[in-house]
Amino acid sequence: MGFVPIVDVLSGKHKRAKVRGWVHRKRESKTIIFVVLRDQSGLVQCAIKEGSPAWEEAKKLTVESSVEISGEVHKDKRAPGGCEIGVDKLTIVGLAERFPISRDVSEEFLRDVRHLWVRSRKLTQIFRVRSEILHAIHDFYHERGYFEIQSPSFTKSACEGGTTLFEVKYYDRKAYLSQSWQLYAEVMLPALQKIYTIAPSFRAERSRTTRHLSEYWHHEMETAWMDFDGLLRFQEDFILHLTRHVLKHCKTELKELGRDTSDMKSLKKPFIRMKYAEAIKKLGHRWGHDITDKDERKLVADAGKPVFLTHFPRDMKAFYMEPDPQDPKTVLACDLLLPGIGETTGGSCRIVKKEDLEKSMKMYKLDPKDYDWYMDLRRYGSFPHAGFGLGIERLVMWLTGTKHIMDTIPFPRTMTRLTP
Ligand code: 4AD
Repeated sequence: MGFVPIVDVLSGKHKRAKVRGWVHRKRESKTIIFVVLRDQSGLVQCAIKEGSPAWEEAKKLTVESSVEISGEVHKDKRAPGGCEIGVDKLTIVGLAERFPISRDVSEEFLRDVRHLWVRSRKLTQIFRVRSEILHAIHDFYHERGYFEIQSPSFTKSACEGGTTLFEVKYYDRKAYLSQSWQLYAEVMLPALQKIYTIAPSFRAERSRTTRHLSEYWHHEMETAWMDFDGLLRFQEDFILHLTRHVLKHCKTELKELGRDTSDMKSLKKPFIRMKYAEAIKKLGHRWGHDITDKDERKLVADAGKPVFLTHFPRDMKAFYMEPDPQDPKTVLACDLLLPGIGETTGGSCRIVKKEDLEKSMKMYKLDPKDYDWYMDLRRYGSFPHAGFGLGIERLVMWLTGTKHIMDTIPFPRTMTRLTP
C-alpha cells in the first residue's frame, strides 16, 4: 500500500494506513507517545505505545521532524478529527533542530521567520483558499471566451501616476517596474477583444497599512465595446462567481479559519452604486476631498454590502479615464469596496478619442513621447472599451477573513520587508 493523504485516513477509508508528513505536536508519558502529524490535507493523531517497534524512534522525535508512519486506524473521539493511528512502524526522514516558533512569539518575529511560519495551519488554509481563487478566476474567463495575455514587468512609462513608481536600472537606462498591465492590454484589444491577466504589479507605497504591499498579484481584465454599466455588472458576476466557488470548495479551510460565511452566502447582485458626490455628503467632506481607507470601510459598513464608488473628480484619478458625458468634471470610474477591506477593484471606461487623450495627458503633465505606442490605438480604429484591476490579496483577505494583507501572500514585500 502506498502513502495516503491524512484527510483520507480521517474519512475512515482505510483500516491500515501509511502516511508521511511533519510532527505538528508531541506529547509523551512513560508508556505512550502521542504525535500529531500534519500534511497539507489535515492533522492526525498517532499513538506509539511502549514496547512497539516504533518506540525508540518516537522518543527521538522533535516538532517539525519529517516522518513516515504506518499503523492501524481506529476511531477515537478524543483525537482531533476523530481517528487515531496506532503506530507500528515509524521512520524519521529529517530530524528537526529545536523549532524557533513557539506560542508566545511576536507577529514581527513570525514575519522574520516567514519561511518557517508558512507551515502554520492558519497560513496553510489561507494559501489553499488563495490557490482555489486563482483557479476560479481562470475558469470564469475561460467559460466566457476570454484570452489570457501577459505584459512586460519592465516599463518606460507610468500607468497609475508617478508617485508609486519603482525605478530600476535597465542596462544604461532608467526603467520602472509595472504598476499595471492595462495600457498594454488596451493595445491588444483590436487583436483579441476580451482579455485578462494575473501578474505581479509593483507599487512604491510609502504608507504602512494593513492592505498595501509593494509587490502584489494583480488580476486585470479589458474588454472591447464594454460600457460603464456593463463593467459594473461584469464585476458583480465575477465577485459572485468567486464567492460561490470558495463557499463550495473551501468549506474546511473557512471553518478552520473561523470565517463566518453568512455574508458570503447572502451575497446578491446588484451591489450598491454610489457616486463620489453622494459619498462625500455622507462622510461630511467637501468636493475634492480624498476618500481614505477608513472612509471606505465606513461607507461599506453602513451599507452592509459591497459598494461601487463611481464618478470621481477627474483630477483624483488616472489620465486614461473617460469623462462622464453628463458631468465631464467626473470620470466613468469605479472602485468596488468590500466589507472590512474597502477598495478591492478599480476600473473605468477608457478615453476613446485621440484629441481627448492628448488633452488629458497635458493636464496630467505626461510626456506624449513616452506613450506613443499607446496613442496609436486611438490613431488606428479607436473604439469604446473598459476594464478593471483587482488586488488578489485584498480579495483573499475578504474571503478568508484575514486582518492583515501580509498573511495572504507567502512572502510579502512592504516598505520595510524584503526578506525572507
Ligand atoms: O486602482 P488601481 O491602481 O487600478 C489600476 O491599476 C488599473 N490600471 C486597473 C485596471 O483598470 N486595469 O489598482 C487596482 C487594484 C486596487 O483596487 C487594489 O485592490 C489593488 O489593485 N492594489 C493593491 N493591492 C495591494 N497593495 C497595493 N499597494 C495595491 N495597489 C492597488
